[in-house]
Amino acid sequence: MKPAFYVTTPIYYVNDVPHIGHAYTTLAADVLARYKRLMGYEVFFLTGTDEHGQKVEKAATAAGETPLELADRVMKRFQSLWEKLEISHTDFIRTTQERHKKGVAAMFERVMEKGDIYLGEYEDWYCTPCETFWTETQLIDFKCPDCNRPTEKLKEESYFFRMSKYQDQLIAHIEANPDFIQPKSRRNEIISFVKEGLRDLSISRTTFQWGIPVPGNDKHVVYVWFDALTNYITALGYPDESGDFAKYWPVDVHLIGKDILRFHTVYWPTFLMAAGLPVPKKVFAHGWWTIEGQKMSKSLQNVVEPNMLIEKYGVDAVRYFLLREVPFGLDGDFSHGALIARINSDLANDLGNLLNRSTAMLGKYFGGVLQQPGEETELDAAYRQKTVEAIQQVDGHFDDLAFSKALQTIWEVISAGNKYIDEVAPWTLAKDPEKKERLATVMYYMLESQRIVYTLLSAFMPRTAEKGLGYLGQAEPASREGLTWGLLKAGTAIKKAEALFPRIEEKAE
Ligand code: MSP
Repeated sequence: MKPAFYVTTPIYYVNDVPHIGHAYTTLAADVLARYKRLMGYEVFFLTGTDEHGQKVEKAATAAGETPLELADRVMKRFQSLWEKLEISHTDFIRTTQERHKKGVAAMFERVMEKGDIYLGEYEDWYCTPCETFWTETQLIDFKCPDCNRPTEKLKEESYFFRMSKYQDQLIAHIEANPDFIQPKSRRNEIISFVKEGLRDLSISRTTFQWGIPVPGNDKHVVYVWFDALTNYITALGYPDESGDFAKYWPVDVHLIGKDILRFHTVYWPTFLMAAGLPVPKKVFAHGWWTIEGQKMSKSLQNVVEPNMLIEKYGVDAVRYFLLREVPFGLDGDFSHGALIARINSDLANDLGNLLNRSTAMLGKYFGGVLQQPGEETELDAAYRQKTVEAIQQVDGHFDDLAFSKALQTIWEVISAGNKYIDEVAPWTLAKDPEKKERLATVMYYMLESQRIVYTLLSAFMPRTAEKGLGYLGQAEPASREGLTWGLLKAGTAIKKAEALFPRIEEKAE
């Protein structure tokens, strides 16, 4: 039986349209899911939309729609973008689906039965855009410490979750599991937050309607984060704890942006502890993108529309750029200039050129038919080793979710290939009939190394990998079995490759 692997993205709010920040989290999850599948895992990859709450209710009113009409419309935009980005999710959950509502009600009841939810009264400062209550001391000039927008004082009857009760258990868990919160800097941030003390958390609202009713008291709707976080288990069939739930929970990794770390590493694990369920194995928070040096914002009209980028530069160039440009976990800046530079140097020059050059030479010297390699020289051995070692290194980088390093490692093999050609100078060998066997060997090494490169690249750039492997005479899709040196067979017919990534001559806009 294949080992199981479960990866999730946050579920996206439907009051905003998809932009590059959303595309980023989903893309990272997709690359991880594809890599794990390549390595023989049975992967459950979940994404979806977060459709309840006051923000969505307000956006719908402003658009003259019902909240569900708004959700239906925007949800489709997310789905169509995922299709264009070639996202390979297993399931797409919407919090308005019956399966989810049933699961949330069950989770709420379970925690209530345990005595960890009680009815009380709430009075504090509320930030509507962030759907978060703050104490007066947390406010900065009476504004939300997260988004700097005005807050209002609200008093309402509310159900509370006894989060305070789980403070010690949570700290103990974080300390015993160094990988639970990543990157490390984020982990430290959460440890200090929890050590300052956890308050009980208000987990219901009476001030608006658009949500899941609290079981047994439909004056209240369930707080949007209790509702949203539970998606990670309702998609697996919870409250039914057999089937997918038994197979995939606890999740291997929740991928999220740094802005929602606290919800995932404090609220969510304590909800799960109260419900008697295992907590996530890992939560990884990535950084934020700015656009040409500025914060992305609707009012600045600089929101980068991923559909436009894909149409203009192609899906694999966008996939490559987003994961290569910035180390996963750090903030980064998006600019057209940087994207074009990467396409021209890494994709057109290094990757595409190597395939183009080497397949053209095989055509010229051997009529496009791969020959049996002869004796291995030191230079050949070094190139083979570099290729084979990259397999292990890439695997290690995937364990750390260091996507950018994995790509760097693959590119070192590509550069080694271009250097190898320059050093062995096949065009000189070709002039001497006695060097025919040496020439055959050199051709074999160049092409076999690239077969492994495209196999490793398949998680990042599925289409490019398929094309590259196709040119190398491989009809089968990339597989883990392919990550062994020496599988290219003598006699394979190899066509001259077209430019995989034509250079982009235009100036950055
Ligand atoms: N609905 C909640 C998540 C609930 S998960 C149980 C939510 N949705 S969101 O649509 O606002 O954001 C989803 C993700 O997009 C977050 O991980 C957030 O970090 C990410 N990004 C939003 N803007 C971003 C950038 N500018 N850059 C990178 N990621 C960004 O939060």
